Amino acid sequence: PHVRRDGYGPTDEFLKKFEIDDTNTFLTTDVGGPISDQNSLKVGDRGPTLLEDFIFRQKIQHFDHERVPERAVHARGAGAHGVFASYGNWSNITAASFLGSEGKETPVFIRFSTVAGSRGSADTARDVHGFATRFYTDEGNYDIVGNNIPVFFIQDAILFPDLIHSVKPMPDREIPQAATAHDTAWDFFSQQPSTLHTLMWAMSPNGIVRSYRHMDGFGVHTFRFVRDDGASKLVKFRWRTLQGKAGLVWEEAQVTAGKNADFHRQDLFDSIDKGRYPEWELGVQIMEEEDQLRFGFDLLDPTKIVPEELVPFTPLGKLTLNRNPRNYFAETEQIMFQPGHVVRGIDFTEDPLLQGRLFSYLDTQLNRNGGPNFEQLPINQPRVPWHNNNRDGAGQMFIPLNTAAYTPNTLNSGFPAQANQTTGRGFFTAPNRSASGKLIRAVSSTFSDVWSQPRLFFNSLLPAEQQFVVNAIRFETSNVQSTIVKNNVLIQLNRISHDIAVRVATALGMTAPPPDPTFYNNNVTTGVSVFKNKLLKL
Ligand code: HEM
Repeated sequence: PHVRRDGYGPTDEFLKKFEIDDTNTFLTTDVGGPISDQNSLKVGDRGPTLLEDFIFRQKIQHFDHERVPERAVHARGAGAHGVFASYGNWSNITAASFLGSEGKETPVFIRFSTVAGSRGSADTARDVHGFATRFYTDEGNYDIVGNNIPVFFIQDAILFPDLIHSVKPMPDREIPQAATAHDTAWDFFSQQPSTLHTLMWAMSPNGIVRSYRHMDGFGVHTFRFVRDDGASKLVKFRWRTLQGKAGLVWEEAQVTAGKNADFHRQDLFDSIDKGRYPEWELGVQIMEEEDQLRFGFDLLDPTKIVPEELVPFTPLGKLTLNRNPRNYFAETEQIMFQPGHVVRGIDFTEDPLLQGRLFSYLDTQLNRNGGPNFEQLPINQPRVPWHNNNRDGAGQMFIPLNTAAYTPNTLNSGFPAQANQTTGRGFFTAPNRSASGKLIRAVSSTFSDVWSQPRLFFNSLLPAEQQFVVNAIRFETSNVQSTIVKNNVLIQLNRISHDIAVRVATALGMTAPPPDPTFYNNNVTTGVSVFKNKLLKL
């Protein structure tokens, strides 16, 4: 009922305050004087343009500064507004207010993306896909900055520049890895075997999704839910697509990239425009604090899933995307997601990848926005009032009235006050968290088995899906020029499964190493299927 012909659906009262409608207006300078701007100011008919032409300078200068740096990763994406409705009152597991009562609605914005390509790259390139959700809750903004693949390539954020440098275009020719040479990416993957699990998922149809609507989203890390009384549980998030999961086949992806590089962006916009609102169900796997090492791997290790057979998902609520952005730049480009945007009732874990992300997003956004006030942009503003002692900086858009921009103060009667003393609800950090130990610079021994779960993933696939993965690895590695790198890839595949190594080697006209049983002994998680809904619609 609320589809408007312009495709934007119901109005967002909050963002509407920032919209500029030019209907029945005339042009002005940037500071309001009426102007005409089709000709520059010249000396005579054929004369040079005058430096004093502020109308020319203002127009051209603004244009010259239109671009901001694209995201360092996930530059290519599309987003939409929607609403999240909680299935119930979940205060028995979390104090998060948006999960506090049945039917409670919270506005959301989601941005989907690919990782490696630039802002203008093709949508259907094979890649991990970003699935970043912002909840504008009544206790502040909460972001789940996730991906469509439930695991990640590395176990420590300090390796992120290495990973990304290896998958970005070759530095000499600036040609993406997917087009010609693949040596750097596959060199890194085969030297850093923590990448293998995510790589297997990326080589499956999850790497070339049918559309953004047909993919799941995952928080990847283990997080904490914290109750009002301080009790905490460990959780893993999943957005389950209610459209069903579906992938393209490689030939479709390639043809589509040529015919319509905006295929996913257009699919999302058009479906919302036509009132076919995509939906996802938010579920969590809930685990006890003492379960961190219970399953044969470490819950702090982001290269591991918890199989559904061990811990099923509890559905918490449903998300519906029902409104397209009105301006791509002001909404989709300027939204700044951060894993550090949390609300009361949600806490981090000690996962070293998550810990590093908590630094990186804010840091890169200071660069992307050119100053510290990007949270004041309309799309980033919380839908609740905010008060702090921040001052000044490029792009300050408000007029703070409190002269006592410090705490404690008496000149402003102590305001803004400490929230915990005022509301009794100040804590974010689970009170029972603790950390101690010697300082070390090494991977935890509990993170060391990186081959069992890729094997679990491969074994859980249907035969056609397994062939899909073999074909994908064959295609991608056939573009690797270095024989050493190709052999290293076969060595790692052989540690996952001799079967897959033989099939890829045969396709490449190479020989697989002999079976290596020392790697096949960890059966803790083998034999169970990964996720119940299958990857290909057969
Ligand atoms: C951006 C997910 C690991 C650095 C993003 C985005 C997503 C994402 C979805 C795009 C957000 C948007 O649409 O605006 C993930 C996931 C990770 C992961 C699921 C692992 C579990 C990391 C790590 C680092 C990192 C380890 C660095 C140490 C960045 C940066 C951006 C980004 C710099 C660009 C942010 C911006 O310019 O606004 N990530 N990421 N990511 N990520 Fe990650």
